[in-house]
This record gives sequence, structure tokens and C-alpha cells, in this order.
Amino acid sequence: MSVALQHHKKIYNPATAIAHPNIALIKYWGDLDPDLHIPSNGSISMSLGGLFTRTRVRFEDGLPDDRFVLNDKQADRQSSERVSKLLERVRQMSGTTCHALVESRNNFPTGVGIASSAAGFAALSLAATRAAGLELDEKALSRLARTGSGSACRSIPGGFVEWQAGGTDEASFAISIAPPGHWDLVDCIAVVSQEEKGVRSILGHTVAHTSLLQSARVENAPRRLKMCREAILRRDFEELAEVVELDSNLMHAVMITSNPPLFYWQPETMRIIQAIQSMRKAGLPVCYTVDAGPNVHALSPAESSVKITEMIGAISGVSQVMVAHPGGPARIETVQSEGERRE
Ligand code: DP6
Repeated sequence: MSVALQHHKKIYNPATAIAHPNIALIKYWGDLDPDLHIPSNGSISMSLGGLFTRTRVRFEDGLPDDRFVLNDKQADRQSSERVSKLLERVRQMSGTTCHALVESRNNFPTGVGIASSAAGFAALSLAATRAAGLELDEKALSRLARTGSGSACRSIPGGFVEWQAGGTDEASFAISIAPPGHWDLVDCIAVVSQEEKGVRSILGHTVAHTSLLQSARVENAPRRLKMCREAILRRDFEELAEVVELDSNLMHAVMITSNPPLFYWQPETMRIIQAIQSMRKAGLPVCYTVDAGPNVHALSPAESSVKITEMIGAISGVSQVMVAHPGGPARIETVQSEGERRE
């Protein structure tokens, strides 16, 4: 029991959790409910092992406010408010009235379009609920993480994950459709910019419906979800490549035709996409997907990934290449799980 009474002061044990970011193979773009992040369509992702956020939460009697420290620095107001909003939900669930100190660290660059908010809110949901003395199951944790950042619900389960759109708060959560060991698919991330992106996805979701193309994208989503799910289950790379590229292109078509139009690609983005197309024509199994930023994720089976990583690293404008294999679920870090520190 993490709560004890000592001199009329509640003492809470801190809890530390780690969670991986995820790359969407079928994208979430557009909300039915922007506050609860109920998405317009379901999505599928792969957990990015090796990249992680580690978050420690401690509720303390007498703290005047919540405090959020990200990568050793006091976080900006906007991020701190998002964290506090999630902590408020945890306070309501657990009955505590204490504020919390949240210390979070990413082992990958923050704000370059590598979904740090997904790993961040997944780790926060797990650490904060445990620190408040709650033990939520995977579904409840995924729902809670979703309220912080939509894609964070997909960073609670491990491996290959599907977020069932659901349409309501109760029914909108993510489940694992295959464990990390099912298929050694590699995401080779070509980082082209270290700058924070211009328009955050949180705004993008709210304007998606202004594009004429969004309704067509959403209507066709069940077909793409089925193709992607089946390609993963059969480990059929060709089928996966086709639907992953189509889905990414559809999302960017919506982005550039919304009001305001959102352009996330840089000239380097197109250069890398074209290089990937040439590699595929030459017989290498590789495909691309791009999130709300200029970086390109090149996916391939592990056998070809070393060569692909080398080729992508040599493209002009690529400042850094990160490589991730399918990762596990969000988990509590105990003193015993010291091995995970080297992950
Ligand atoms: C393009 O989950 O980051 O990466 O819920 O506003 O935090 P918020 O948005 P977020 O949006 C992700 C958008 C995407 C596609 C995806 O990951 O499915």
C-alpha cells in the first residue's frame, strides 16, 4: 500500500514507468471529440523498442502546484498544463487531492516529430496511477493515456497495436494485435530537422474536417485497417508496404487541403521518399510513412534493414538515423528491472 498516514501527512511512494513511442502504419488524423481525443477513424501502429520515455511521479502533501520537469528542465506552460490535466483525472479516480512532481526524460530527441507525446503520456498514465495507489488494467490505462494525447493510447500495449476508434470514451482504446516477437520489422527513422514543428498535431486534428478529402479518407479506413492487420498477421511485407504508403499519402493529402493548409514535408522529405521508391524498384523490401513532421520512417524486414539504414544515412539533408525494432508495452520500472536501463 503506497499511502500511509504520518503526522497527519499522507506519504505517497513514487512510481517510475517507461513507455515507447509508436509509429502509425494506419494514421489517426481528426477527432470526433477533441477534448477526449475520440478519433474519426481507427489506427494501427508498431511500438518503437529502444526509444523510450522514463517518467517518475510523486504525489506530495503540501505541494502548491503540479510540477513537470522534462529532460531536466522546467517544462513550458502548454506542456505543463497538459500534464496537469491528466493528473487531475488521476486525482479524481483515486480521491487524492495532492499535487505531484513529474520528472520525465526521453532517450530520443524531443519535438522532432517522433511522437514524444505518445510515449510521454503513456508513461505518465502508468506512473501517475501507480503513484496514486491505483492498479488499472490495460484497457483503462489506454483510455486514460488517450485523454492526454490520442496516439498515447497505442503506447500502452506492446508490439503491433490497433486503436479501436470506438466512438465513445468507454469504447475507444488500443489492444495488441501481435506481440513484438511476431515480426522483426525495423523502423529506420531519417531525421531531417531538429527544429520543433510549426503546427502541432493537436491543432491539425481539429481542422482535418475542413478538407474535402477527409470524409473519403475516413470512410475507406475500415478497408485499410483490414489490409494492414492482415498483412501484419501474415507477415506479408508487399501488402503492408502498399497500404502503409497509401495511408500516409492520404493523411498528407488531407493536411495540405485543410483550412489552414498544413505542409509538413520539407524538400528532404521528398528526396528520401524518392530514394525509398528507387530502392524498392531495385528489389529491396522497404516502404515509407511520414507523420506530422518532415522526418521519414523507412520500414523493412530486419534482414534488409542494415543496408537500408546505410543508404538512408547517406542521403543529403539527413542529420540523424534512428533504428527501432518492435518494442514491448508500457511498464513499471522496479529496482529489479535494472536491465531495462540499458534498453
Ligand atoms: C500524424 O496523438 O500526437 O502522428 O492527440 O493531439 O496529442 P494529440 O495528437 P497525436 O497525433 C498523432 C498524429 C500522427 C498520426 C498517428 O500517430 O496516428
